[in-house]
Amino acid sequence: MAAILKTAILLMSFGFACVAGLDFSKTGYDPKDLESEGTLKALYDSWATKHGRLHESPGAKETRYSIFKDNLEYIHEHNKKARDYVLGLNQFADLTHDEFKSQYAGTKLNRRREERRPFTYADVTLVPDSIDWRSLGAVSEVKNQGSCGGCWAFSTTGAIEGINQIVTGELVSLSEQELIDCDTESEQGCNGGIMDDAFDYVADNGGLHNESAYPYQEVQGTCMRDSLDGPVVTIHSAADVTRKNELNLQKAVANQPVSVAIEAGGKPFQFYSGGVFTGDCGTELDHGVLAVGYGTDAGTDYWIVKNSWGPEWGESGFIRLERNIDAKEGKCGITLGASYPVKTGPNPSPRPPSPPAPRPDDSGVCCHDQQHCCPYDKPICDLDTNRCLASTRDRFGVAMLEQTPATWRSVKPYQKQFSTDSTLDEKESRSYA
Ligand SMILES: *[C@@H]1O[C@H](CO)[C@@H](O)[C@H](O)[C@H]1NC(C)=O
Repeated sequence: MAAILKTAILLMSFGFACVAGLDFSKTGYDPKDLESEGTLKALYDSWATKHGRLHESPGAKETRYSIFKDNLEYIHEHNKKARDYVLGLNQFADLTHDEFKSQYAGTKLNRRREERRPFTYADVTLVPDSIDWRSLGAVSEVKNQGSCGGCWAFSTTGAIEGINQIVTGELVSLSEQELIDCDTESEQGCNGGIMDDAFDYVADNGGLHNESAYPYQEVQGTCMRDSLDGPVVTIHSAADVTRKNELNLQKAVANQPVSVAIEAGGKPFQFYSGGVFTGDCGTELDHGVLAVGYGTDAGTDYWIVKNSWGPEWGESGFIRLERNIDAKEGKCGITLGASYPVKTGPNPSPRPPSPPAPRPDDSGVCCHDQQHCCPYDKPICDLDTNRCLASTRDRFGVAMLEQTPATWRSVKPYQKQFSTDSTLDEKESRSYA
């Protein structure tokens, strides 16, 4: 009975559903779908199929269907008012708002300490009216954090991917899992973290491996970084954008993608599907994301923000947040926790195969093959028998010593000591030091 009543109310509220210009690709429904219980059920079934929802029982399905209808009502009520932004039936359409909040925006993003590091773009005077780091090649594909509250790691990798592309010209997707598994001193893995601290970790620990070298697992695991020897992307340090000032944030974003913290747990956020978000949201920072540009649309200024909820959410995974609003905190608190990595040089070249070098305690001369050495008192190399002879008449000699590859730091001193006709020039030996 209650269900029938609810449907009746739902249908009544959809009764005036002559909404012009509702784009099915954004909303995920057609107002015609709201005409009867039958069409609603069909809509739910096709949504559930698309999203691979398997229900344990008919009761569970009924519960989800009912939440779905509540959400649809909310979404449609919003869309009827034809605001600047559209809501739609995305992957969160069968979650209650509390479920959504605790799973996707419930991460502990401790309010950041006051800025510790100077804002390096404070003196920038010329900023473009708009910029989009996506079209400039500095933004990787939209990723999906899934059920792990590791937004902070996605925000961190995004910012480093950006500055790395700007400095080196190469866009390399970086490993969130490495941060989640290894940066455990100041972060809480899938329960949250802070981008500033993660930048410090990367600066202090020799960089990050790429996404395919250390792929995302959606759960925290043991740190594997020491067993990887692939290329890394390094940064020098991090800086904080001086808070409560959208112009400061603009100066920073004009120069590189910037990690920002926002409140993303609001209901409109759950279903945001396109347009410039001008809706209500607070400033209780609960989500780490990445500002990748800004612009103006029909007189409304906006930030372009990359999220980590997959490409289905929002505008292919991005949201445009209203910019230059009255409150200093900015939309959803976007000016309150903005930070970015500083990169001053290229990435280290992958470690080359070590050149052969004599053992530290083998004082002697090296043979022409540069692989064997003999003691000073038996300096003649007989490479046919691998023996060192005192003179051409010496019939026995001693066994040659084979050089072992130098360790990382030892190349330079040993070379000085032993190489006679070394083929390694100064430049080469410097790069190993
Ligand atoms: C990622 O790292 C692997 C080694 O672990 C390497 O083979 C691959 O080339 C790297 N990819 C990029 C894009 O740098």
